[in-house]
Amino acid sequence: TTVEWEAESYDMGGHDTYMHKEITEQVESVDRVLRGRIDDRFATVRLGGLNMDAREARGVRRVKILGCGSAYHAGMIGAQLIEELARVPADAEPASEFRYRNPVVDPDTLYIAVSQSGETYDTLAAVQELKRKGARVLGVVNVVGSAIARETDGGVYVHAGPEVCVVSTKCFTNTAVAFALLALHLGRVRDLSVADGRRIIEGLRRLPGQIAEILGQEEAIAKLAAEYADATSMMFVGRVRGYPVAREAALKLKEVSYIHAEAYPASELKHGPLALIEPAVPTVAVLPEDELLEKNRATLEEIRARGGRILAVAHAEQEKADHTIVVPRNEVELDPILMSVPLQLLAYHTALVLGRDIDRPRNLAKSVTVE
Ligand code: G6P
Repeated sequence: TTVEWEAESYDMGGHDTYMHKEITEQVESVDRVLRGRIDDRFATVRLGGLNMDAREARGVRRVKILGCGSAYHAGMIGAQLIEELARVPADAEPASEFRYRNPVVDPDTLYIAVSQSGETYDTLAAVQELKRKGARVLGVVNVVGSAIARETDGGVYVHAGPEVCVVSTKCFTNTAVAFALLALHLGRVRDLSVADGRRIIEGLRRLPGQIAEILGQEEAIAKLAAEYADATSMMFVGRVRGYPVAREAALKLKEVSYIHAEAYPASELKHGPLALIEPAVPTVAVLPEDELLEKNRATLEEIRARGGRILAVAHAEQEKADHTIVVPRNEVELDPILMSVPLQLLAYHTALVLGRDIDRPRNLAKSVTVE
């Protein structure tokens, strides 16, 4: 069985689909996850629901993030943010895999369960197994009072508001922002400087306006979607910060358009998937303006040399790409959040061109509450 939203009880507000409505709501929803949490004086954030004092937060030696689907991908961004800002080793793993593999549960590790619904059975089962073994588990959850919210020791609500479309958009973004807040908090009880704390806070504050700028490019993105909708398969690549963006964008495209998509770390292309590159298999390349930009540009060249079409997501026009979606500059740590947004629009418009049932893709449920 699956949990069905009472879709009728939520107004579509003039949009043709909930997916479109929810993508456009991100300007306000990101503002909502930040609201009341920023502490300018100490260049940090206040997360009252964590139920952890500074000493306990400092005692965390490792972070393990668990979730399924888009929640898992938001967790991948979260793990990178925690490593970058707090310098605590962190990684994300599908909750389903974790619970089936008899994991080593370590008392100095902070476990974080991520879920929009708070009811996904695999994630809940992972939480219950961890609790049974005495671990500290936090939740990064959207639905207030949901099973995962209740069973965890504390957490951060992502305040995305109700998400009706089966595929996650605004909740994915808000979850990633919630992780930025958590990473900032863990960083500021450790070695993250006041100056860096301020820099990230200012970056977070710029997000809603920059998301609005990206949404302003919708018409151009719709044209690109029409141009690439004939693909038999699509490759999504990124390095480090770009990789979770590629993962989530490929998932989004598969879910709503039914076009096969693969996401790969750009560095792994030459170890196999390069064999797939041909004109019918275009690549979406994610290129944040970080220390890996030149490496990523070289990847574009490799793809081009094999006759592959390229759609880049970058902060400036990429001459090696056939098309570029230009995303506003923010702090590099926050690039994965911003760069995911235009690719939600790309998936949406591809599905629209192909006439898919966007809010209710075949074979999928909003929330999988069984094994
Ligand atoms: C289902 C949905 C996905 C979602 C995943 C996790 O598989 O189709 O879109 O990301 O569950 O859901 P959760 O509510 O735990 O975030």
